[in-house]
Amino acid sequence: MRYGYFDDAAREYVIDRVDAPFSMTNYLGTQRMGAVVSHNAGGYCWLDSPQFHRITRFRPNGVPMDFPGHYVYLRDAETGKYWSVSWQPAGVDLADAKYICRHGLSYSTYTCEYEGISASQTLFIPREEADADPVEIFDVRLRNDSGRPRAIDVTGYVEFSFHNIDIDNQNFQMSLYCAGSFLEDGAAVCELHYEPDSFQFFAASFQPDAWEGTRDGFIGPYRTERNPVGVERGLAGGHEEGGNPVGALMKRLTLEPGEEARVLFYLGTGRGGAAAKARARYDFAGTDAAFAALRRFWDEKLGALAVETPHQNMNRSLNIWNLYQSEINVLFSRFASFIEVGGRTGLGFRDTAQDAMCIPHAEPEGCRRRILQLLNGVTKAGYGLHLFDPAWFEGEEAQKEWSPTVVPKAADNKRVHGIEDACADDALWLIPAIVEYVRETGDKAFFDRLTPYADGGEETVWAHMRRILDFSYGQLGSHGITKGLRADWNDCLNLGGGESAMVAFLLVWATEHFLDAARHTGRAEDAEQYDDRLAAMKEACQSALWDGAWFLRGFTADGRAIGSHTAVEGKVHLESNTWAVASGAATYAQGLSAMDAVDEWLYTPYGLMLNAPSFTTRDDGIGFVTRVYPGIKENGAVFSHPNPWAWVAECRLGRGSRAMKFYDALLPENQNDIMEIRRAEPYTYCQFIMGRDHAAHGRARHPFMTGSAGWAYFAATRYMLGVRPEFDRLTVDPCVPADWDGFSVVRRWRGAEYRIRVENPDHVEKGVKAIFVDGKPADAIPVFGAGEYDIRVVMGR
Ligand code: GLC
Repeated sequence: MRYGYFDDAAREYVIDRVDAPFSMTNYLGTQRMGAVVSHNAGGYCWLDSPQFHRITRFRPNGVPMDFPGHYVYLRDAETGKYWSVSWQPAGVDLADAKYICRHGLSYSTYTCEYEGISASQTLFIPREEADADPVEIFDVRLRNDSGRPRAIDVTGYVEFSFHNIDIDNQNFQMSLYCAGSFLEDGAAVCELHYEPDSFQFFAASFQPDAWEGTRDGFIGPYRTERNPVGVERGLAGGHEEGGNPVGALMKRLTLEPGEEARVLFYLGTGRGGAAAKARARYDFAGTDAAFAALRRFWDEKLGALAVETPHQNMNRSLNIWNLYQSEINVLFSRFASFIEVGGRTGLGFRDTAQDAMCIPHAEPEGCRRRILQLLNGVTKAGYGLHLFDPAWFEGEEAQKEWSPTVVPKAADNKRVHGIEDACADDALWLIPAIVEYVRETGDKAFFDRLTPYADGGEETVWAHMRRILDFSYGQLGSHGITKGLRADWNDCLNLGGGESAMVAFLLVWATEHFLDAARHTGRAEDAEQYDDRLAAMKEACQSALWDGAWFLRGFTADGRAIGSHTAVEGKVHLESNTWAVASGAATYAQGLSAMDAVDEWLYTPYGLMLNAPSFTTRDDGIGFVTRVYPGIKENGAVFSHPNPWAWVAECRLGRGSRAMKFYDALLPENQNDIMEIRRAEPYTYCQFIMGRDHAAHGRARHPFMTGSAGWAYFAATRYMLGVRPEFDRLTVDPCVPADWDGFSVVRRWRGAEYRIRVENPDHVEKGVKAIFVDGKPADAIPVFGAGEYDIRVVMGR
């Protein structure tokens, strides 16, 4: 069963069954202002921070689902009948109306045909240029298809948020008394009286015939957004100091048969001219130009790497949705969705580092910004701050608290947590992120850049990387394996602070990146020193972690081996086995055996489970994971994020069909027709999918905000298609199913465009037998710096 389809030419997902019993979300905004909206226009908007600068409200995890939102109501002035342009909130009978939602890249369009009126509403946030302030636009169009003259009242509506969402949702003795509403120059303005000069506005391309500034006045007692009194009986112009401010603006349009009309609404911050400015800049022509610029912005990004393979859903994912999802993670980090509803702010160290590693080709500036913020979150001891707000380190202005009330502020030295709160993997992820950034951009000077530590002092980026490695090499347990500390990538498998195989393998991988960088920047001493450490770590892994047919997951603090064939629960784990192979620490024979065990124990048609069998016996020595329901999240769910690690591992082993089998199982686009099982967006990876030990096996949860996006993109493009930037060359080393005849990739890299055609005449899964650059045989694909080049790569033995 499906609720929609992919329109690849438009780069949209089209939801033609808007009564899907779960939210399908999308993101608006590409810079400071952002919004997350559902296929029924429910959702919320923020500026810079979804926690401290929320613009509109949302009632998360509520009933009705996804309320409120950024709505437009239509009302027939003659009959009094009303509906909304998105199916919800009015929710008229779908037997009488046709509703569609199109989610595109950074915009969503809602259309309806009802009562002889065709209407559409496009929500988007223009790219800020020069002096333009951030604003969300509702672009609304109507056509009278009824064959008779009509008078239609169009009402745009938003519920404003008091900026700080904790106070907004919990501390009503403040939030209800410090926000007010008034009408100014035809705009509904919400004032946050405690914050000097803090205003949000909802304006329109017209001077309203009527308006309302209070929620009570708009909705009315014992009603909801579904049947607001303000739409039913007309807006009464209510406004007050204190209360729940809203913006509702109405215009009566008279439409002859066949006549079309267009109105715009603007949601923004500021007053006294801010609305006029938005109106002037984004008149109809300005709005069209801004929308076209947004499309060009995405064209440009998607043009950095475009693939054409025999696998249509893979093309669709890599060319559109997977990159889009990865970009959203880098841009908004992880704390704005319908699941993470803005209540946490800042950066999760490990997640951000991985996000930033994966798409430097499409978003070099964003990745660089995140990398620099994370470098600032590294302590001199070499561990990373697990969760921190970059604003802490960005000077006075950025540190200002957004709350008007007195919130005791943690002293700076409390923000920098000690080693007891450090996770063993956090900072390690930053090394590959930095190295990939330099491989992409060629900016080797980045390593020499001075950058501060979280706990004071500054050194070069290179020195930060050394300290990160030194920290991990200094934290070894009795088996010579890196300690797990508070946790490793798996937040719930704490091992009571024992030893983590995954971190040991990750350390191997990070060190390999560091060594490659050392060799390409003439740091011979470092290359030698860390090569020795690496060899010792690999040896420790070999002697302590091989279990006979696969790799252990680690040791608990009291010395118990986890993930062994002797275990009844948690016998095979995904993270340690994939990283053993992906890092290069395993021998080829071990790798084959370990990944066969992954296939045998962890494979499901929806992806690879994190561990099997799930834990059912509580054991705090193993970790919190044993308290999680079997088949959910870290306890035996298909946790999406580590799935691509298995694709990398299989590619290292040369098993292209196996990599594709795993890829296909997780690929959201493959599940469009089984939405009764998936029950989540088919255009984004979700954080997890219920595992075999759960009754709802196959149900996906937590869209968009997950490291699986970046990793899926990274693994598929760099390992399966095999197009990898190195310091001094572009490698093309694919690992694909043997039945592929070939594929092509257009890759922009360091100023040049590489038009790569891969042929597979011998139908192998891996191996390159010849490379041609512009028709001439070549040993390698060089850095050209500019121009366009035809690259032919012939696979074979
Ligand atoms: C969540 C966290 C991530 C962690 C993962 C596994 O996705 O955001 O940091 O690695 O869970 O526990």
